[in-house]
Amino acid sequence: MQKSTQGSRLVVKNVSKDFGNFSALRNINLDIQPGELVCFLGPSGCGKTTLLRIIAGLEQQTSGMLFQGEEDISLQPPSARDFGIVFQSYALFPNMTIADNVAYGLRCLRVPKAQIKTRVAALLETVGLPDQAKKYPTQLSGGQQQRVALARALAPNPGLLLLDEPLSALDAKVRHHLRTEIRQLQQKLGVTTIMVTHDQEEALAMADRVVVMNNGVIEQVGTPMEIYQQPASAFVAEFIGSMNFIGHSAVTGRSAQLDARVLALKQPISVVQDNIRLAIRPEDVHLQPLDGPGWTAQVEHLDYLGAFIRAQVTLREWGLSLLVDVDPRTARQLGLSRGSWVNVTLPSDSLHCFAA
Ligand SMILES: Nc1ncnc2c1ncn2[C@@H]1O[C@H](COP(=O)(O)OP(=O)(O)OP(=O)(O)O)[C@@H](O)[C@H]1O
Ligand SMILES: [Mg+2]
Repeated sequence: MQKSTQGSRLVVKNVSKDFGNFSALRNINLDIQPGELVCFLGPSGCGKTTLLRIIAGLEQQTSGMLFQGEEDISLQPPSARDFGIVFQSYALFPNMTIADNVAYGLRCLRVPKAQIKTRVAALLETVGLPDQAKKYPTQLSGGQQQRVALARALAPNPGLLLLDEPLSALDAKVRHHLRTEIRQLQQKLGVTTIMVTHDQEEALAMADRVVVMNNGVIEQVGTPMEIYQQPASAFVAEFIGSMNFIGHSAVTGRSAQLDARVLALKQPISVVQDNIRLAIRPEDVHLQPLDGPGWTAQVEHLDYLGAFIRAQVTLREWGLSLLVDVDPRTARQLGLSRGSWVNVTLPSDSLHCFAA
């Protein structure tokens, strides 16, 4: 209780986990800074929860080490580790009042009663539920229950907050609202936080850094902007946002050859590579009038998405279909409609190259 609210640093060193013959995690390395919010993001079954449970001590790693602050926690049981945890389902004690739920961890720590009372009141105030102390979990909405779970996890003032898909059972509006609140609270308290999610928008909106996982390995660790703008692999490029893959190519220096077509690249490739996947984001593809530069394409489909229009165009002579994001004004100027024709350019500074 007297501990400062400073979050702790967490280092994961070469952690692997096997379930029988199945390798769930391989050589996981992470260095999470005090006060950072890191999201584990990846498709179902990639190992996010397993890694979170290993950090909590709820699962034992097959090999590798974990350090929290200066301490080697690799072999510590959960009870000896300094963390609070919130799960996807509202794992509140149904037969306890909201106040007793929040007080639970403090009672285990034998904190004096009067102190518990003050702390619980303050926490319920913090999570926006000052009047709900005497109610029972079933009398609260899903969003309110997750706030209680958050208050309960934060009550002992942990150095590390672990969240496993805490918002995924909530409807979109509550989810959006609560994610902003969690982020603000986390920043205010300075508690180091790891949040598991398979929702890329949530990860990009909340995290200082995102850990993109796939099949038991880390594909990339970076800020939301790095992950989006410089995806390290075709998997990351495809998993985060939308990406058009435009073909396999031999790449030499500053140009890529796709059949008879030569595309300029901004970043020269240092070694000659004969099988590179070229890709471009929908917002980076440019549409021009038919008398402008580029390859001729026909509009197959238009989706009005409010702030922009997502067009699907086909470059017939390439046999290639592309998604293109266009602002409504440009779309009007080009007279975009289903079946209409435009020219397409692929700006060299927007082309991504991935090893095939
Ligand atoms: N106790 C276990 N015994 C055997 N296999 C397990 C066990 N726990 C997890 N696995 C397997 O390990 C892999 C990773 O599981 P994990 O729960 O970590 O995935 P996840 O990324 O959290 O997925 P989701 O997004 O669906 O929650 C899965 O293939 C899963 O079936
Ligand atoms: Mg999971």
